[in-house]
Amino acid sequence: MTTPVNVTVTGAAGQIGYALLFRIASGAMLGPDTPVRLRLLEIPQAVKAAEGTAMELDDCAFPLLDGVDIHDDPARGFEGTNVALLVGARPRGPGMERADLLEANGGIFGPQGRAINDHAADDVRVLVVGNPANTNALIAASHAPDVGKDRFTAMTRLDHNRALSQAAARAGVPVSQVKRLTIWGNHSASQYPDLFHAEVGGRPGAALAVDRAWLTEDFVPTVAKRGAAIIDARGASSAASAANAAIDHVRDWVLGTPEGDWTSAGLWSTGAYGVPEGLVSSFPVTSSGGAWDVVDGLEVDDFSRARIDASVAELVEEREAVRALGLI
Ligand code: NAD
Ligand code: LMR
Repeated sequence: MTTPVNVTVTGAAGQIGYALLFRIASGAMLGPDTPVRLRLLEIPQAVKAAEGTAMELDDCAFPLLDGVDIHDDPARGFEGTNVALLVGARPRGPGMERADLLEANGGIFGPQGRAINDHAADDVRVLVVGNPANTNALIAASHAPDVGKDRFTAMTRLDHNRALSQAAARAGVPVSQVKRLTIWGNHSASQYPDLFHAEVGGRPGAALAVDRAWLTEDFVPTVAKRGAAIIDARGASSAASAANAAIDHVRDWVLGTPEGDWTSAGLWSTGAYGVPEGLVSSFPVTSSGGAWDVVDGLEVDDFSRARIDASVAELVEEREAVRALGLI
C-alpha cells in the first residue's frame, strides 16, 4: 500500500472547504492510486462544524481516505504536511476589493507560514486560496525561511479557468480547444488575462483579440471582475469553482501539465518578465517532475506590458501595506 499523503486544509468548515474536502478524498486531486490523510485546521469556534464535515467524510467510505484529524493549533495541523491548502480566511462582501481584506486576513498567514516551516514535511507544497491570495502567500513564505520559496504558491487557476470559458464561448468552441492562456499579476481586478499566445479552436488567440473593443471592454473585465459578479449573484463568494481550481492547481503541480499546454499560477517571482523579485505574481507555467516552471521567451507587446505592469504595481503596493502592518 502506498504511504498516504498528508493534506492539510485550513478553513475546513467554510464553504470552499465543504466543496473541496470530498473531492480530495475521492482521489480527484492526487490521482486514483494515492491514499490521503486529511488534516482539517480551523479556529476553535468552527471545530464542531469541521467535526460534522469529518463525519460526512467517514460516511462516504472513500477507499483512498486513510483518516481525518481536526486541529485548531497550526503546529499540529501542519505536522508532516505534504500538501497545505490555505483556504481559511474571511471572504469579501459586496462592494469590497480583495485588498480590503489584507488587514483582516494578513495576520493569519504569518503564524501558518511559521508552523509550516517548523512542522511540515520536507516536500511540502503550499497553495494559498484565502484572499488577497498573492500577498497572503508572500506573507506565509516570508515566515518560512527554511522552506524553498518555490513551495509557496497563490491561486490564480480560477481566473485561468474563467478565461478559458469566456474565450471558448466567444469562439463557439469547447473549452478543451482553448490552450496556452495566461493570467498575469494579481488575483484582483487588475489581473491581466492574456489571449495573445493562446490557441482557440485551432486558431491563434490573437485572431479573437483583433476585436479590441471586445477584448478591453468585455473579455478582460469579465474575467477580472467575475469574483464580484458571483458575489452579487449568489450573495456569497465563489466556492465550488474555487475548490475545483484548487484541485486543478495541486493536481497539475504534482502530476504535471499536459504536453503542449500551460496554465497560470501565482509564484514567487525570481524576476521573470520584469516582475520584481519577491512578489508573488501570476505567470504562465508548466509543471513536470513536481515543480513549476515559468514559460519563458514569450513576446510581450506594449498592450500587454502596460496591463502586466499595472497589476504588478498593485502587488508592490500590497507588499508595502503589509510591511507597514508589520506582517512581513
Ligand atoms: P468561509 O467564510 O465560508 O470560510 C472560511 C473558513 O475559514 C471559516 O470556517 C473560518 O472559521 C476559517 N478560518 C478563519 N480563520 C482561520 C484560521 N486562522 N485558521 C483556520 N481557519 C480559519 O469562506 P470561503 O468562502 O470558504 O472563502 C475562504 C477564502 O478564500 C476567502 O478569503 C475568499 O475570499 C477566498 N477565495 C479565494 C479564491 C481565489 O481564487 N484565490 C476564490 C474564492 C475564494
Ligand atoms: C473569486 O475570485 O471568486 C474569489 O477571490 C472571491 C472574491 O472575493 O472575488
